[in-house]
Amino acid sequence: MLIFGIETSCDETAAAIVEDGVNEICSVVSSSKEFHEKTGGIVPEVAARKQVESIVPVISECFEKYKEIKGYESIEHCYTDIDAVAVTIGPGLLASLVVGVEAAKSLALFLNKPLIPVNHLIGHLYGNYLVEEGVTKNIAFPAVALLVSGGHTELILIKNHGDFEYIGGTLDDAVGEAYDKVARLLGLSQYLGGALLSKKAQECKVNKIKGKLPRPMIDQDNFDFSFSGLKTATRRLIENEKIPTEVIAREFEDAVVEVLTKKTLNAVKKFSVKSLLMGGGVSANLHLRETLGRECEKVNVKFYAPPLRLCTDNAVYIASAAYFMYANEQYDFEKIKFEDIQPNPSLGIID
Ligand code: KG4
Ligand code: ZN
Repeated sequence: MLIFGIETSCDETAAAIVEDGVNEICSVVSSSKEFHEKTGGIVPEVAARKQVESIVPVISECFEKYKEIKGYESIEHCYTDIDAVAVTIGPGLLASLVVGVEAAKSLALFLNKPLIPVNHLIGHLYGNYLVEEGVTKNIAFPAVALLVSGGHTELILIKNHGDFEYIGGTLDDAVGEAYDKVARLLGLSQYLGGALLSKKAQECKVNKIKGKLPRPMIDQDNFDFSFSGLKTATRRLIENEKIPTEVIAREFEDAVVEVLTKKTLNAVKKFSVKSLLMGGGVSANLHLRETLGRECEKVNVKFYAPPLRLCTDNAVYIASAAYFMYANEQYDFEKIKFEDIQPNPSLGIID
């Protein structure tokens, strides 16, 4: 089954064609990140305007790529190959989501094919399903998923495709948000500085101030997180003590990784799961990937993290998620009416 995916939840405009949820055939991503870097944060109107400008060229480019891969002479052959269209309906910025949802409806109408609505958060987790270097992933359930992004930090119990249970999450800032704020305090980046902060942390080989920052909620018997206090404590450290940037970055990252690892492993053990999946922008963090991988090995649980290129927003995982929802018969194509598919900026993972 060939699914054409569309993703426009924030500042990326993306389209992709994926076969049977696991084979990425082609993918196009256009980002307006550089515009938001100039303003030091996302301006929703600017993001939406960029979505409007990019959506048709991105969809066309994706079809062109597919045509080239298949060696077809005309684009019409590409259209007939597609079995369904999938689109992100939320969460995200309303004006950005509207662009993708309306484009997807038009495309599905034009192709006369069903349209599958996809939750962006669930999409992130399906970045783990794509075949990599010829290897298919047979992810065993039940599984725990750790979703770590700029807007979310959540632990979810996955019993099957489409069968999710929320088990905990952040009570205040998301982990990516804390990374971005600390990156700004350290003068590393004005917008989405998580990756730069992590790179800085790697420059410090030995953490001589280990334990100076708090590890919030680490010993609490629940699956919730709090990163707002850690961010404030880091600000105080920056303001009051002369500690090199890379050392502060390292201590901040150590605190984050320790808390995420301890609580995630607690969940893995409590629910006796077979697999741990990670997803979201922060899952690109090498320190977190390595630590979770190591700890899972100790307890004989398979650990999956998406390939780095699928950690940031794209349409590949949207098409993949759509396929697995369908395979699970959660969606009855015939019953989904276009008018019922609407953007939902505050969609939760188990809504
Ligand atoms: O999932 P995502 O692309 O956007 C949301 O849906 O929120 O995640 C973006 C977040 C940003 O906060 C960014 O700074 C963070 O992921 N991030 C990282 C790394 N790469 C991206 N945080 C820590 N370490 C990284 N390597
Ligand atoms: Zn995302």
